[in-house]
Amino acid sequence: MIKIDPVYPDETTLVEAAKIIRRGGLVAFPTETVYGLGADAYNREAVKRIFKAKNRPMDNPLIVHICRLEWLEMVARKAPNEAYMVAERLWPGPVTLVLWKSETIPGEVTAGLPKIAVRFPSHPVAAGLIERSVVPIAAPSANLAGRPSPTTAQHVIQDLYGRIELILDGGETLFGVESTIIDLTTEPPKLLRPGPIPTEDIERVLGIRISIPDYARGLSEAKIAESPGTKYRHYAPETPLKLVEARDYHDLNYYSAKVLEIAEEHRSKGFRVIILASQETGRRYAEKGLRVIELGSRKNLYEVAKNLFNSLRIIDELRTDLAIVEGFEEKGLGLTIMNRLRKASRHDRVLVV
Ligand code: TXA
Ligand code: MG
Repeated sequence: MIKIDPVYPDETTLVEAAKIIRRGGLVAFPTETVYGLGADAYNREAVKRIFKAKNRPMDNPLIVHICRLEWLEMVARKAPNEAYMVAERLWPGPVTLVLWKSETIPGEVTAGLPKIAVRFPSHPVAAGLIERSVVPIAAPSANLAGRPSPTTAQHVIQDLYGRIELILDGGETLFGVESTIIDLTTEPPKLLRPGPIPTEDIERVLGIRISIPDYARGLSEAKIAESPGTKYRHYAPETPLKLVEARDYHDLNYYSAKVLEIAEEHRSKGFRVIILASQETGRRYAEKGLRVIELGSRKNLYEVAKNLFNSLRIIDELRTDLAIVEGFEEKGLGLTIMNRLRKASRHDRVLVV
């Protein structure tokens, strides 16, 4: 592991890391969303090693990362106008586009699918590494399959130590949740995974509606060819996680009373309970002697998103029997948070009105 300045990355370090990529090695690096585990997208053997290192099922395709808009034509074909509209406004940044794949990218990257997911990250380390490697970099999140995505280099070490060549430690990532994924091969475009850029923002850029299937809300699983990642268990801590949803979160007094009721019911049965709560309600549970992890304010969902994966990792270290997590309004970034929480809870959800 090498420390690297996230804003002004050291040239020698980037060149060293790029050499590893060029030799077919694996490098974990920070992006503005989460840490990625990168390999040369043109190198089949290197790409296969990513799946091995993560224990990732071979039918779950990887995102290809580029550092210049001109490279889009190298990895995708027949990119529609909409792709350039999004690129112009939101790249570099945390939006991934699903397009028709170019022949030059090996099938291992896309798990044999005819479509490819392309992302142009804004993080200076990610961009710098791709630039010096002079090849597109295939990179999933740098966690073991099923675990929460890594937002620090320590998380990468927890999951992948000894399995990869290098970790570039650029500190905590900015958004803390993975990129928004939009499929532009369908009509209308389809949200495959909500992320840091709200769907509403992308609709505004495109001037048309984007369809939001149930699986993008974390409510169901998609067919493999449509959104391969959704069928797999994801983000889940070892500790059972129960998500308490409400139809709306306007009356937080009432809502938190319901959450408290559920927590106390389990505590009275001898369960060691911990609550993942918003800043607005956390104190209420703590006052009753319950353990609380505060995720952040309901008025700043970026904060909640940023703390989410670290909190899910911490649950297991605290040795409790049940974690209860509060829900958030499904608007803007709230959709992103609810997608991750519904998956993390493996659908152990209760609805309080
Ligand atoms: O922010 C991010 O997107 C991070 C950083 C490292 O860039 N990457 C990331 O990759 O989250 P990963 O592999 O953990 O998640 C990518 C998701 C998976 O659910 C995968 O199924 C989906 O994107 N995906 C990849 N290629 C696809 C394709 N051709 N069609 C549909 N979905 C695809
Ligand atoms: Mg992942």
